[in-house]
Amino acid sequence: MPVSPDITSPMLSAPLRAELRRDVLRGLGSPQKWLPPKWLYDATGSELFEQITVLPDYYPFPAERALLESCSGAIAEASGARTLIELGSGASEKSRLLLNALRARQLGTAYVPVDVSSSALSQAADALRAEYPGLTVAPVLADFTADLELPPVEGPRLVAFLGGTFGNLLPAERAVFLRTLRSQLAPSDGLLLGCDLIKDPAVIRAAYDDPTGVTGAFSKNVLTVLNREFDGDFDLAAFDHAVLWDSHNQWIEMRLRSRHRQTVTLRGLGLAVTFAAGEDLRTEISAKFEPDRLAAEVRAAGLEISRLWTEPTHHYGLALISPAHDRAVDAVRPRLGEDVG
Ligand code: AVJ
Repeated sequence: MPVSPDITSPMLSAPLRAELRRDVLRGLGSPQKWLPPKWLYDATGSELFEQITVLPDYYPFPAERALLESCSGAIAEASGARTLIELGSGASEKSRLLLNALRARQLGTAYVPVDVSSSALSQAADALRAEYPGLTVAPVLADFTADLELPPVEGPRLVAFLGGTFGNLLPAERAVFLRTLRSQLAPSDGLLLGCDLIKDPAVIRAAYDDPTGVTGAFSKNVLTVLNREFDGDFDLAAFDHAVLWDSHNQWIEMRLRSRHRQTVTLRGLGLAVTFAAGEDLRTEISAKFEPDRLAAEVRAAGLEISRLWTEPTHHYGLALISPAHDRAVDAVRPRLGEDVG
């Protein structure tokens, strides 16, 4: 996994800016304008997300924490993990629950946080080293969605991908992520995946449309990132925060809706983009899962759900996933009685 520079620094490094440039040209040039959600997370965006986690209607965060509080013992036992690798570790708050459970069982001797934010990584690493004497903490600065490469540390390895971030990936990206991970997992390694589950769309909408406007400010932050990186003139006040539940794809979208017809210039890209009145720019998708659909995606990547814990009040799930025993990645095998032509 290449070490990528800090995405939270005020100005992006050359490789990251090149990636953002590609995403902007593709996304703002498409008939349905969109941008990948990872660009929301500069220092300001990360701070706004921290504020979201304490909003009364943002249930995924407390739901996952409650699940971890009640199930981390079972997770530790089932995984038998010597090393905990956490993707998108951020402040590593929830990792402590897993580390405590592992270490109470003489497991969890090493912790590998993986994140794109070097400030979050080094702060979390320092704190954990102080709190857990004897724990090997080996942070990795990387964008795991682009190029996942698990470190060759002592196994069994438990890869934790929490918070529902898996749902921010498009279905094709999720498939690539799962297959790439599968190709690197040993039989005794596992994946702990936090996934928000399908529920009343009104409850989901409320989580992404708070009356205080924090989520709107979070979504609009991507315009600030573009203005800064590409000398742009997006007027944040000329867009409204909107959320849309897509029942076909089973995901919620955050959109920025243009208040009037306007042309925005990104001088650094030599690009002028016109928005019609009411036209939307999609800044995030956040998929919600039916357990059967999650199982099918996992299965298609040569993995299987061995345990699924669910939080009953808010319908949030934690899946413990293992390499499937009976099936290699991408293997196409005829089923009994089926002709393969
Ligand atoms: C925790 C990053 C997955 O999709 O729920 C929160 C981000 N977006 N409010 C999510 C988010 C709007 C969040 N993730």
